[in-house]
Amino acid sequence: MTLTKYLNCLKLNWQMLKHCCRGRFLAPEDYARSYDRLARNYDHSWLERLKAVTSSLLDELPENLVEGDILDLGCGSGFTTARLAECYPDRCIVGVDISAGMLDEARRRCPRGDFQAADMLTFCQQRQSRSAALIVSAWAIGYSHPARLIPEVSRILNPGGSFLLVTNLADTMPPVFYAFRRTLAQFPSRCTRAIIHHFPPSDAYLAALLKRQGFSLEMSRTGAIEIVPPSDQDILDWLLNTGILAGFAEVLPLHHDNEVRDFFRQELSAAMTKYPLAHHYACIKGTRPC
Ligand SMILES: C[S@@+](CC[C@H](N)C(=O)[O-])C[C@H]1O[C@@H](n2cnc3c(N)ncnc32)[C@H](O)[C@@H]1O
Repeated sequence: MTLTKYLNCLKLNWQMLKHCCRGRFLAPEDYARSYDRLARNYDHSWLERLKAVTSSLLDELPENLVEGDILDLGCGSGFTTARLAECYPDRCIVGVDISAGMLDEARRRCPRGDFQAADMLTFCQQRQSRSAALIVSAWAIGYSHPARLIPEVSRILNPGGSFLLVTNLADTMPPVFYAFRRTLAQFPSRCTRAIIHHFPPSDAYLAALLKRQGFSLEMSRTGAIEIVPPSDQDILDWLLNTGILAGFAEVLPLHHDNEVRDFFRQELSAAMTKYPLAHHYACIKGTRPC
């Protein structure tokens, strides 16, 4: 048993090395594919559980805005965008998302928004300096590259403009990612890409990125949302509809390979007896000095 485990571990490392050498990495298109697949179910399966935290972030929206547009990076089905449109009726609100399916939902929810299908980092890199009054990103920045994105956010914001952010942290939902790693190690040859993700490790990490760009930090907090999976649905099918495994489900055949699915479920239920199913997050607000 132990020998098989070591052999699988060696095979997985070899497989990852091959993917790296061939340039096959988990990419924005993979996240887009996952979110396109789950877009119709996202609000019911996941957004409902996040809304309270997102709303508490949006309670920090500035009353008076400097000149410029408002951007919602990784706008998804438009929950935040709709709130921005309501709070700032005379401003142009731009929602950016990589998933066409999620953008369809957002257009339905917030007809006034200007929605653009793009990778958020590429979008920001192409955007004019000092053209935004406010930038918000809810539960999406970890899919991008925070260390590269935050300098762009700083460049785009007008002096006095604010950046509000909520994101899950790298250690979120421990049983899910434990089960994922165990499944990867069990089925190394079924893994299709190397995974490098940029989910931030802590709020301190994000705060340091903002301070480096000269932001004054007005709020920084962390928390955890206790997640209870629905009792009337297969746990893996539900997870695949939440987005928690977005991208990762393109690396391992969690949608259709029954052997992989059964192993994942088994590891997940064992892990859930040891670790809580909690969604760890950080909320941050920073403002560019005038
Ligand atoms: C967890 S959802 C959050 C959606 C929404 N902001 C909310 O609070 O419900 C993450 C969103 O980020 C989008 N996303 C992932 N990678 C992205 C990227 N590189 N550029 C733009 N959007 C991205 C996904 O398509 C998805 O809609």
